[in-house]
Amino acid sequence: MTNQPNNLEAQLLALQEEGEKAISAVNTLESLEELRVSYLGKKGQMGTLLRSMGKLSAEERPKIGAIANTVKEALQASLDKQRHALESAQIQAQLESESLDVTMPGIYRPQGKIYPINGTLDRALDIFVGMGYTVASGPEMETDYYNFEALNTPPDHPARDMQDTFYLPDGNLLRTHTSSVQIRYMERSEPPIRIVAPGRVYRRDTVDATHAAVFHQLELLAVDEGLTFSDLKGTIKVFLQGMFGDLPIRFRASYFPFTEPSAEVDLQWNGRWLEVMGCGMVDPNVLKAVGYDPEVYTGFAAGFGVERFAMVLHQLDDIRRVYASDLRFLRQF
Ligand code: DAH
Repeated sequence: MTNQPNNLEAQLLALQEEGEKAISAVNTLESLEELRVSYLGKKGQMGTLLRSMGKLSAEERPKIGAIANTVKEALQASLDKQRHALESAQIQAQLESESLDVTMPGIYRPQGKIYPINGTLDRALDIFVGMGYTVASGPEMETDYYNFEALNTPPDHPARDMQDTFYLPDGNLLRTHTSSVQIRYMERSEPPIRIVAPGRVYRRDTVDATHAAVFHQLELLAVDEGLTFSDLKGTIKVFLQGMFGDLPIRFRASYFPFTEPSAEVDLQWNGRWLEVMGCGMVDPNVLKAVGYDPEVYTGFAAGFGVERFAMVLHQLDDIRRVYASDLRFLRQF
């Protein structure tokens, strides 16, 4: 049983038949590759048969050679066909496993809202930052010095009656206003100064529709050479316009221990004047308390309650709603 031409031809044809069957039965690309190596690879069965052609006669060789070529091409075609089929099946399977049912209902995620006090505060801070102000802060637990004394409010000063204070057992207190931040900031800085200081403040007020024991203020302070009351007026005007639009405002003479002269600012809202902030030129005694020379520097300051602004901005009737954690209310902002 050696290399008789007919024998070799039969072997080639048998190889083709067996190969085509095996190839079409394979169902992974890895097994297909194994079959390719086994049939057409360098050391594969086809090669083995071809090597035995050397022993054929000169007439037989081209004939068997031609048959060998068709067998090789047929096997290659079968491999290609099966590879193509397996690859498309793979893509199809991937498409099916990754497909999305766009009609399926989604998972509901409630959208968060900005808390009305923070929203109002952010809006105010944006306006001041736009005018070149820096945001500063200070502690909520204060000493008597920063909350009152350095602000020209000595222990026996009648102005202390204006604010009922929460005193702590150790003699410290919960700050009644953010004006304390003025002193702390000036102590560690040199003019020129342009700051806004937002924060929580505490008062022993009876809680009602417009008063809370804890609320938020924003303090404004500018110190420089040559600042005048008209700088204060212009700044407040730009701020209130940014906040509420072009509503009429008026300055009314008032009194604060830490400013001289002092004023209160009213905003015309729904046909009536609403008091919205206190302000004034920083009292020379306050500048002296932080070591500034009042002959060289002047300053202006202002302070307002953020809740009051939020009430105007959002037409709220009762401040207590803001603290009641009622989502039906809070979702509206
Ligand atoms: N601290 C004052 C208050 O709580 C508000 C205020 C008034 C602040 C005048 C100021 C100011 O800086 O100049 O009622």
